[in-house]
Amino acid sequence: MIDNERVILAIETSCDETAIAIIKGQKELLANIVSSQIKQHQDNGGVVPELASRLHYENVDHVFNQALQEAKITLKDIDGIAVVNGPGLIGALHVGTIFAKSIAYLNNIPILSVHHIAGHIYANNLISDLKFPLLALVVSGGHTELVYMPNHLDFKVLGQTQDDAIGESYDKIARILDLGYPGGPIIDKLAKEGQNIYDFPIPKNDNTYDFSYSGLKSAVINKVNTLKMKKEEFNNADIARSFQESAVAPLITKSIKAAKEYNVKQFLIAGGVSANSYLRQEIENNFTKELPNVELLLPPLWATTDNAAMIASLASFYQDSYFNNEYDFAVNPNRKLGI
Ligand code: KG4
Ligand code: ZN
Repeated sequence: MIDNERVILAIETSCDETAIAIIKGQKELLANIVSSQIKQHQDNGGVVPELASRLHYENVDHVFNQALQEAKITLKDIDGIAVVNGPGLIGALHVGTIFAKSIAYLNNIPILSVHHIAGHIYANNLISDLKFPLLALVVSGGHTELVYMPNHLDFKVLGQTQDDAIGESYDKIARILDLGYPGGPIIDKLAKEGQNIYDFPIPKNDNTYDFSYSGLKSAVINKVNTLKMKKEEFNNADIARSFQESAVAPLITKSIKAAKEYNVKQFLIAGGVSANSYLRQEIENNFTKELPNVELLLPPLWATTDNAAMIASLASFYQDSYFNNEYDFAVNPNRKLGI
């Protein structure tokens, strides 16, 4: 049994957010601080790993103090520290894990290292209880995965991208259209004003649960370059709309297929791209039509992008025995989903 009074401090530094949250039991967030580096990376059109590590290093102490202040507690009140140890940028993970180990060691607090993608899935438990068996579609800047869960902390990856992640392709299309960074929210908004006139291919339109976004990305980039070369007029909104419809289509068909095959009770979305309005609308339309008995869990936007509340939520499901005093674990930037 997990103690309802247990207090966990969670640290997330895998990419470009320095985030620390504190949770009591499994639902009560005492603090949730997110310091985003988006502005500092904007001029480079994407996350620069070395800059990300430096900014985590500069910010983590301040974010930590802010979290303790917001929760109105001291280190003595913390029963466990959870830290993301992959997947993610190696330098960025180093900052978070070394910080976590130092605090844990100096204050004799047990520590647990957890998986970033599992955290994205568990962000949803802060919104509504997870119900099993469930299917999770994880779509972010680094990941595109369909995950089946027969129970808590039991992750079976049914399929994943073979090349680019969907968020990465949104960001690259936005870059070639000079729209700014991050591209996802900008393309999402722009697509509403456009038409699907380019009919780009639907990527990995097959029977597997895998995805692929590099071909679609190249098709869009080639189209834009050709239009520019021929000096033909075109509308960015039409490119955005055509790209988005192709990008989202396999997410819907494969999610429906897996939800049927695994007879799931609940379907949830997670990760930065799950903020996408067209994806959400397509999920609602298609699940309502084809699987009306499957409960949909579409989290609010704050819970979709990187934060530490999701890590705290995930960690709150681990029994005490998983938290220990072994501070010598190595950074694992390519960690596989599992406990
Ligand atoms: O989960 P996240 O914050 O970081 C990673 O773990 O990767 O996801 C960031 C990604 C970026 O690629 C961003 O462009 C995308 O999520 N994104 C969106 C939307 N909001 C953020 N993509 C499509 N539509 C959106 N509304
Ligand atoms: Zn993420």
